[in-house]
Amino acid sequence: MRYLFTAAFIIAIAGCSSPNIQVQKLQAEVDSLHAQLQHTYKPGLGEFMSGIQVHHARLWFAGQAANWPLAQFEADEIKEAIDDINEYNSDRPEVKSLPMLSAPLDSIVAAIKTQSPALFARSYNLLTNTCNQCHTATKHEYNVICIPKTPPFSNQEFAKQPEKKGANNL
Ligand code: HEC
Repeated sequence: MRYLFTAAFIIAIAGCSSPNIQVQKLQAEVDSLHAQLQHTYKPGLGEFMSGIQVHHARLWFAGQAANWPLAQFEADEIKEAIDDINEYNSDRPEVKSLPMLSAPLDSIVAAIKTQSPALFARSYNLLTNTCNQCHTATKHEYNVICIPKTPPFSNQEFAKQPEKKGANNL
């Protein structure tokens, strides 16, 4: 009889208080993770834009050097930054104007595919004008983007390099 009573008591404990304690523990963990998430570093729109600025400049010099693989890479990097802005800065109202970059970027990619310097220059102009259109539309008209005059970095070759034959030449 005593054993039966003890068993009933254990079942009662397992049935109510123990899951409650577990729920409380889980809730505390969720709260702590939530607090941690709020302090996680999230790049801002200005940081993504500064990244886009660098790719925009490299894209120009890659195109000028008819280095189409590099130009394609830089165009892809701009697209990736746009995806990241959509993911991380969706709270910024300006983000809804981002799709205006799609047509100029498609045009750049077409120029790269056909390896046409004339089409590339036209598309690049269109892209640059679109950057400024959005800056005006979002009241950041003082950020004026232009066709770059000098390469952004002295430690990068924009010209296509002759293919190396074998690892010994490295
Ligand atoms: C969706 C509209 C939009 C488009 C399209 C856009 N920008 Fe921006 N850009 C902004 C906004 C908004 C800011 C201000 C960000 C902030 O609050 O820090 C900005 C800021 C910048 C800055 C200043 C960054 C800084 O922190 O100093 C640069 C550089 C820039 N953009 C480059 C570009 C280039 C290059 C393009 C085109 C390839 C482009 N942007 C296209 C909206 C846009």
